[in-house]
Amino acid sequence: MAARADYDCLIKLLLIGDSGVGKSCLLLRFSEDSFTQSYITTIGIDFKVRTIELDGKRMKLQIWDTAGQERFRTITTAYYRGAMGILLVYDVTDESSFDNIRNWMKNIEQHASDTVNKILIGNKADMDESKKVVPTSRGQALADEYGVKFFETSAKTGYNVEQGFFAIAGDIKQRLAEADSKAEPSTIKISLPEPVNPSTGVQQRSACCST
Ligand code: GTP
Repeated sequence: MAARADYDCLIKLLLIGDSGVGKSCLLLRFSEDSFTQSYITTIGIDFKVRTIELDGKRMKLQIWDTAGQERFRTITTAYYRGAMGILLVYDVTDESSFDNIRNWMKNIEQHASDTVNKILIGNKADMDESKKVVPTSRGQALADEYGVKFFETSAKTGYNVEQGFFAIAGDIKQRLAEADSKAEPSTIKISLPEPVNPSTGVQQRSACCST
């Protein structure tokens, strides 16, 4: 008999934002609970996974970390299409990274699925108040304008990092559950065996969290 998959659904997330805002550090904090001061810019794209439990469901988050640098834009935008959720990250000590959120939003409109969930993250909240150039109120106002949730985080201290990732995972879970219930209002569900990955012998789970 095939081994059961160790999760109920697979969620693909994408981190985008200007170079140096802390995307890789947020991912490292969330996936391995660690932090590094040294700045190694992402080349192209990278990913890490973490399985979380939400309302009794095991959700495997596959989180893609994109390079913020312009020269990798062709590679990174190719990953928008497959994303179920996108975390838009700016640095609260860097005004231009905040201004550019509008451009990142435009990129999403052009390249991502219409239904993709989004969340706004203002990172480096641990920095001294004198260095903070984007007040919380402006971050919140921008998030409200786009109708998305907003969190100020610190990859350095871990402040609000779990909250941000859990919030977008929860939104996606809810969206998938709603889409599922709309798709089959009165039909009888017939359970078919889940396909088995031939290379691992592990049953593959659908990206559906509703059942
Ligand atoms: P690209 O890969 O070039 O797109 O950059 P990135 O957005 O992935 O930035 P990265 O995570 O590599 O972080 C850039 C620099 O900011 C590093 O020196 C980090 O140590 C620092 N940094 C990241 N997050 C935080 C944070 O929350 N607080 C502070 N104080 N520094 C941070």
